[in-house]
Amino acid sequence: MTDDTLIAIKPEIAATARVTAERRAAMVQAAASDPDGFWRQEASRIAWMKTPTKIKNTDFTGDVSIKWFEDGELNASVSCLDRHLEAGRGDQVAILWEGDDPNADSKTTYAELHAQVCRVANALRALGVKKGDRVCIYLPMIVEAAVAMLACARIGAVHSIVFGGFSPDSLASRIQDSECSVLLTADEGRRGGRKVPLKANADEALKTCPSIRHVLVVRNTGTQVAMQEGRDLWWHEAAEAQPATCEPERMNAEDPLFILYTSGSTGKPKGVLHTTGGYMVWASFTHELVFDYRPGEIYWCTADVGWVTGHTYIVYGPLANGATTLMFEGVPNYPDSGRMWQVVDKHQVNIFYTAPTAIRALMREGEGPVKKHSRKSLRVLGSVGEPINPEAWLWYYRVVGDERCPIVDTWWQTETGGILISPLPGAVAQKPGSATLPLPGVFPALVDGDGKVLEGATEGNLVITDSWPGQMRSIYGDHARFAQTYFSTFPGKYFTGDGARRDADGYWWITGRVDDVINVAGHRMGTAEVESALVAHPKVAEAAVVGMPHDIKGQGIYAYVTLVAGEEPTEALRKELVAWVRKEIGPIATPDAIQWAPGLPKTRSGKIMRRILRKIAANETDSLGDTSTLADPAVVTELVENRVS
Ligand code: WTA
Repeated sequence: MTDDTLIAIKPEIAATARVTAERRAAMVQAAASDPDGFWRQEASRIAWMKTPTKIKNTDFTGDVSIKWFEDGELNASVSCLDRHLEAGRGDQVAILWEGDDPNADSKTTYAELHAQVCRVANALRALGVKKGDRVCIYLPMIVEAAVAMLACARIGAVHSIVFGGFSPDSLASRIQDSECSVLLTADEGRRGGRKVPLKANADEALKTCPSIRHVLVVRNTGTQVAMQEGRDLWWHEAAEAQPATCEPERMNAEDPLFILYTSGSTGKPKGVLHTTGGYMVWASFTHELVFDYRPGEIYWCTADVGWVTGHTYIVYGPLANGATTLMFEGVPNYPDSGRMWQVVDKHQVNIFYTAPTAIRALMREGEGPVKKHSRKSLRVLGSVGEPINPEAWLWYYRVVGDERCPIVDTWWQTETGGILISPLPGAVAQKPGSATLPLPGVFPALVDGDGKVLEGATEGNLVITDSWPGQMRSIYGDHARFAQTYFSTFPGKYFTGDGARRDADGYWWITGRVDDVINVAGHRMGTAEVESALVAHPKVAEAAVVGMPHDIKGQGIYAYVTLVAGEEPTEALRKELVAWVRKEIGPIATPDAIQWAPGLPKTRSGKIMRRILRKIAANETDSLGDTSTLADPAVVTELVENRVS
């Protein structure tokens, strides 16, 4: 694919789009020349109890301080619920739920969702949860997950969702870090025809979580689970006992809305903190612009609420905009690989948003399962989570969208709260594999290793030079780490951790992480996390983990393991280590390859040269580069010879 492959905006799309090229240009101009005026205007898209008069107050230097709409007051759940009821849309479907089992589905209207949220909010208050308290959510993809989020928002509690695929250990460390007082979970989850033992995992985790006073348990599959007297309550019993209205807490725009843990290049996952006003404005703004969302449309984002995409584009963004959001419990290939398109037809989905890894997996099954379904309702297709290769982009465009639907390749991060770089369907011509152009109010730049800003068509480290409302505000409990992680590499600029290229047309191509973070099937992971899981095994002396190219997952996990002296590298031990990592972190961290490494390539000062390990894992052994600074260059020869293929 070359930089000149341009897929023009179709006239029929431009004719009806909410944002045309001219309108976009005007917005880009206004957001740059008068940010206060522009965002004051955009803030009116959400409901305020007190309209903000101060708009932007941000500083990327020193301690780093980011404030938007700082004297405004609001409650996120009111923007997502109450005002739609006031506008007479209470009977519209808010959440269209599709089960893992193709025969299971449900519809929840805005009025019903409001009532459920209020009951659970009251139940949480009755358990003593107050504004500012942290509540952990460990739920499968069921309507209660959205109810739980909005119920927390209603009473000003800060939710911290932990993906249902994480292990008890991972759940425990996240609960401990933010000292959650209540956990919301279910007996079991369902995924691809299998059961996930959430309550049992939670019980295991809670052995080391003294901050948890109560657990609310959704009866989902109905399986028998242990209920601890005095601590555990059934969700339905607690909710039914409460009234269906609940006074929303008045929140300052800069009061926290949620914490979401994500992986960095070092140490344990960090609690990314988002606040209320700016995040809600960004969620609503980007959901409407990027998907060209129109009232009455059926919108489906296939992410899990355990990830940021689920937060912003299943719950907060679409509900703020009064959309019907489809929530899917299952997986793309169950019961067969036509499931996505079967669901699209069944619910007449207009906007569909998924990850490249899913597209690549379905592409491998051929066109048959796609063509069996009509897909006529589809209007816009989105991609998120990792770079989409041009082949997968074109397949998505031609086969899934019949060359009719624009593709929005949306680049963003947990830290950014919402989409930053993406085409707008009626305003930006697309290039397969490029996230195209920044949204109005987003100021990306490329810098070299010394922080020098690079101009023109070039490649470098992707930074953002000024704040946008949806930006994270801090790392929970460690603001110094926030400033250090994101603003010290290139002082005064937000460093994304990604590399990117800008072509002659000014289009942005994200090339992937430049730090020790890998992206496995759209799941972000720190190599250091997998390494510490491995070295926690008694037979492992040392481990080094790198990403390797993987056809479906984008990246796979390649681990080099040095055993404790006297231990034999057997197939049984390899299997044991794979199972060990799954248990320590969760199935998403399953190593794809483990290579026994009698030694690792280290500099004379003892630093592991990961560049070389990445090359070996990628089978690019003829371009290992300079190895002369290694303490023992012979180590490399040994590793190359015993590479796992
Ligand atoms: C990668 C997910 C290329 C990127 C929303 C980023 C992408 C990391 C894209 C954030 C895209 C996400 N093209 N790369 N369209 N979208 N990424 O925090 O490396 O789970 O830094 O947020 O995913 O992952 P996270």
